[in-house]
Amino acid sequence: MVGSSELPSFYKLTVRERLEAVRKFANLTDEEEALLQQSCALPLDQADRMIENVVGFMPLPLGVAVNFLINNRNYLIPMVIEETSVVAAASHAAKLARTRGGFITSSTGPYMIGQIQVVGVADPYGARMAILSEKKEILDKANEQDPVLVSLGGGAKDVEVKVIETHVGLMVIAELTVDCKDAMGANAVNTMAEAVAPIIERITGGKVYLRIISNLATKRIARARVVVAKEELGREVVDGIVNAYAFAAADPYRCATHNKGVMNGVIAVALATGNDTRALEAGAHAYAARSGFYSPLTVWEKNSDGDLVGTIELPMAVGLVGGVTAIHPVAKVAVKILGVKTATELGEVMAAVGLAQNLAALRALASEGIQKGHMGLHARNLAVMAGAKGNMIDVVAERMIREKALKFHRAKELVEELTKRGK
Ligand code: MEV
Repeated sequence: MVGSSELPSFYKLTVRERLEAVRKFANLTDEEEALLQQSCALPLDQADRMIENVVGFMPLPLGVAVNFLINNRNYLIPMVIEETSVVAAASHAAKLARTRGGFITSSTGPYMIGQIQVVGVADPYGARMAILSEKKEILDKANEQDPVLVSLGGGAKDVEVKVIETHVGLMVIAELTVDCKDAMGANAVNTMAEAVAPIIERITGGKVYLRIISNLATKRIARARVVVAKEELGREVVDGIVNAYAFAAADPYRCATHNKGVMNGVIAVALATGNDTRALEAGAHAYAARSGFYSPLTVWEKNSDGDLVGTIELPMAVGLVGGVTAIHPVAKVAVKILGVKTATELGEVMAAVGLAQNLAALRALASEGIQKGHMGLHARNLAVMAGAKGNMIDVVAERMIREKALKFHRAKELVEELTKRGK
């Protein structure tokens, strides 16, 4: 990895020039560079082994967000997303963040929880104690399932037990804490939960039904913090962002959209790196609701200098090994561009991207509004749909923006007019 991720006017370059810059930054090989240029770089037989009933592909664009400085290290962020403006917004927020040193991150360890549900226990609290006193046998059995993870220092580390009240009566829930190291861990945790179930049935005399990972990964939390100088935003926008946060904190209808903005960033990186986007969405929203009131994943406040301070904290169940990330050709290149060495580092980078995305959205919402940023690409898309090619795309788009008439029929008129004039 060489150089700064601060690449002014990156968006103005051609695709070829951008790729050249990314290649230099991440030391990509010819083969890796070629893979990124293929509209479908996933071989059909590999796709056919990933899911069932495969009939084709659904390619999406991969963009790169620039300017990210995280823990004093430069990162280029590969993002896969169908929505316009997200990559530009992340890059813009990362640029704003650089003045005060970028993003600072931290996290818990990569611990996932596996749940084992026991029903029909006459003495649930006694059963709880009985399970806890047999912890060693349970952990040994769990760890027999994954000697590789254990050899890397990971594996099942703890057993906790809770008794919960449900509408069909009390249930005993045993929870394995598993250090998943660089794996997302669903396979390892589910295998362990299934393996220890018979021991738990024997100890409790109850019946085990569910044995499954929890996506509310409260032991695998990533955090990020950013300070944005008031001069970068203007005092009014700083106040606007603090007020936007207060709105989200008080109103679930706004909060869902606020958190959607965060997840625009998180999920785009998850897709680029072949991670499980549904696990991340489920974890994030359950975490946001953990107090019983659905709340923002980020907090925005003003420090004593009047600068804006943003923080984020969310579960980040991501992996680099043992999943699609390690086998999908494009995901492998995306990880190389990121230059992350551990799943924990990836999670922290994703938290920083989520925070940046939220900052960009709130900045726009608290000032000129969100539509302005969407206009350029929307206009270009209309021009293409109307038949414009090459330079004509920009000419038609610019005319429509100037005329404030982003309409398909206007794009068609302009394409016809320019075609007649031979432009
Ligand atoms: C759009 O994809 C995301 C936003 O709606 C987020 C927000 O409102 O905070 C702009």
